[in-house]
Amino acid sequence: MKLSKKVAIITGAATGIGQAMAVRFAQEGAAVVIDYVGKPGTADDSLAKIKAVGGRAIAVNADVSNPEQAANMITEAVKTFGGLDILVNNAGIEYKHPFLEFPIDQVQKIFAVNLLGPLVCAQAAARQMVKQGRGGRIINISSIHEDLPMQTNAPYCATKGGIRMLMRTIAVELAPYKITVNNIGPGAIFTPIDKDVESNPEMEKALMAEIPLARWGKPEEVAGLATYLASDEAGYVTGSTYFIDGGMLRQAGAL
Ligand SMILES: NC(=O)c1ccc[n+]([C@@H]2O[C@H](COP(=O)([O-])OP(=O)(O)OC[C@H]3O[C@@H](n4cnc5c(N)ncnc54)[C@H](O)[C@@H]3O)[C@@H](O)[C@H]2O)c1
Repeated sequence: MKLSKKVAIITGAATGIGQAMAVRFAQEGAAVVIDYVGKPGTADDSLAKIKAVGGRAIAVNADVSNPEQAANMITEAVKTFGGLDILVNNAGIEYKHPFLEFPIDQVQKIFAVNLLGPLVCAQAAARQMVKQGRGGRIINISSIHEDLPMQTNAPYCATKGGIRMLMRTIAVELAPYKITVNNIGPGAIFTPIDKDVESNPEMEKALMAEIPLARWGKPEEVAGLATYLASDEAGYVTGSTYFIDGGMLRQAGAL
């Protein structure tokens, strides 16, 4: 098991990629804190899946963009499992509008969840990891859109570009404490965030034409990469983005 004796927090882990990482980390021996927003019970499905594989987990309701709630998430992890080794900043939202019409309240919400949230959670987690003195792992689920423009999606792309420089900067700043910081940049992964495309055959066909491997990625495939980056094996890996996109960026000619 790659993550035995580790404690991991995964934000936005009630669905999609976050849920897949939570289940995989638990299978690999980690104790997992599932962060979610919404009604009590929102994370029950993730908790049940972890229980089914014999893992340990708790669910904590915390809006990642709220510093007090983020700090409380760390406190709960330490209180329940005795420390914190891994933070995965996964929570993210997306609204699409032509740039000229983008409502400012939605722009502010996207920045709060996708960029302020990871910064606030990384700071709170890193403070705990430094206090413990045994290093740590911070992984951000970014996107191919940290490099690749997408029309009607300017605020989302801006936050994912921002998280690239957040990762690069704090990777350097936290290296003396043996805390590594990396991004995973998924392409098209089949989850609720892309339901507009998944439910529209024409949009889906157009998307598949942009992907050399011509299929959606699976949340479990992202979880596999996250498991490596979270493990002791990745101790010399810091400051980079790892794309998992079926070749989409290469075909687009980005980078
Ligand atoms: N699915 C894809 O194709 C794809 C591609 C690139 C990047 N991503 C990124 O992957 C991450 C996970 O997305 P997903 O595809 O699993 O979609 P998803 O919608 O299933 O997951 C996002 C999760 O974040 C949670 N969340 C939203 N606001 C929150 C807040 N304020 N605090 C805490 N949690 C909050 C949601 O409740 C949800 O559970 C996102 O950061 C997304 O940008 C996804």
